[in-house]
Amino acid sequence: MPHEREQWATRAGFILAAIGSAIGLGNIWRFPYVAYEHGGGAFLLPYLIALLTAGIPLLILEYTIGRRSRRSPPYAYRALARPAETIGWWQVAICFVIATYYAVIIAWAVRYTGFSFGQDWQPDPEAFLIQDFLQRADEPGMVSSYVAGVAWPLIAVWAVTLGVLALGIRRGIERANKIFIPLLALLFGILVVQALTLEGASLGLDAFFTPDWDAITRGSVWVAAYGQIFFSLSVGFGIMITYASYLGRRADLTGSAMVAGFANSSFEILAGIGVFAALGFMATAAGVGVGDVLGEGGIGLAFIAFPQIISSMPAAGSLFGVLFFGALVIAGVSSLISIVQVVISAVQDRTGWPRVPSVLVVGGAIALASILLFPTTEGLYILDAADHFVNQYGIAMAALVAVIVIAWVLRRLPTLRDHANETSAVRLDRWWLITLGLITPLVLGWMMVDSVREELAARYEGYPLGFLLIAGWGVAAGVLVVGVVLAALPSRRVERLTSVVESEGRR
Ligand code: ALA
Repeated sequence: MPHEREQWATRAGFILAAIGSAIGLGNIWRFPYVAYEHGGGAFLLPYLIALLTAGIPLLILEYTIGRRSRRSPPYAYRALARPAETIGWWQVAICFVIATYYAVIIAWAVRYTGFSFGQDWQPDPEAFLIQDFLQRADEPGMVSSYVAGVAWPLIAVWAVTLGVLALGIRRGIERANKIFIPLLALLFGILVVQALTLEGASLGLDAFFTPDWDAITRGSVWVAAYGQIFFSLSVGFGIMITYASYLGRRADLTGSAMVAGFANSSFEILAGIGVFAALGFMATAAGVGVGDVLGEGGIGLAFIAFPQIISSMPAAGSLFGVLFFGALVIAGVSSLISIVQVVISAVQDRTGWPRVPSVLVVGGAIALASILLFPTTEGLYILDAADHFVNQYGIAMAALVAVIVIAWVLRRLPTLRDHANETSAVRLDRWWLITLGLITPLVLGWMMVDSVREELAARYEGYPLGFLLIAGWGVAAGVLVVGVVLAALPSRRVERLTSVVESEGRR
């Protein structure tokens, strides 16, 4: 007998959990920087088009596949066709890798929430981050020594995450998100209001909203917009398939996807407003342009530019810091929970183990890998390379393969549309088939070609080739190999389950 599948208690609980997964580190530190880099206000148009033509249609697709089979990604894909199981295990392996480093950025934010009180990063936030806090080695390489100041908050992040997961879908994930999301909205609301009252805030908002119309004609801006939407909405990881697999048979799919998609993007734009208002203040105080205070990138923006802003604020700087880093922690943990849940549910479906042993074994293995590799002097380099390669050649590539297989090889989009329409308030029409069958594969295919071309033109961040072959290309290829091997391994339990899944899936 297949085990009784857990189920969300309420529709609101499911939507809050989906929003909790979507709103994460990507919204607070990644979006504002990517938007600014790619034409400020002109980025918003490609971004919204990406949301409507790929983000929400894919979200609906993942919800439908998950709810239809009521299984984790490998078996949800297997219910469509036996060989498609590989895509599911590939996504499970991607989630394993992402969870290991995603937790580390949350651990930094935990420490920075504490540092905000005494503004410990003074007088030089960059030197403080790289030398004092992360103790980064001069050269990328394999792990050489340990950094205790990162290790202990990381252990705490894992304890909370696995604790919530051990309590299950209703008592753990659903309840936690019911607390996290309102709290996040409150913290961020106060933060944005505080940022908007700073002198020079309007300068930052001008930089964010003033369109650079030339940018819109550049292919890279569109690639960045689609990339941001995938990461931010948590599509392509198998997360939404997993969360939707705990829905009841009559649950609405399209309406929930729209609510989650628009809530995520609204929060993202709000984050952009808050972050740029603060950057405008700092640029005004320093007498430079907003572009000059942006730091090196996502990590630089949150952990170097923000501490600088906090220290130059006329009043309540520490409060601002606590709100900002606290929001980063909450947004991060609710996303981390969803990423780890993908791996746990797949192992549960394969082995039939109950939840608590699965959390201990699977969650424990991910936590161990995370704790052994990243709180080290080389951790930042490994994180950077793994993040870049697993995003580009993991998430985006798996999403591309999934849409091509479903739309063109198996030709199952019309069946899935009918399945979603049976229980959804907003009905899907031909437009959904066109976005997933044509627009998404074309844009994703273009993204792949574009980024491989860039990769071959110059080594990522100028890192040594040997290091990139292991921590970058090796990781991207490794997740695919793991996917193929796990799908090929026979499992008697799965053979027994398959007939159930396939017959349920066809309904
Ligand atoms: N969607 C999550 C984020 O934005 C993964 O960070």
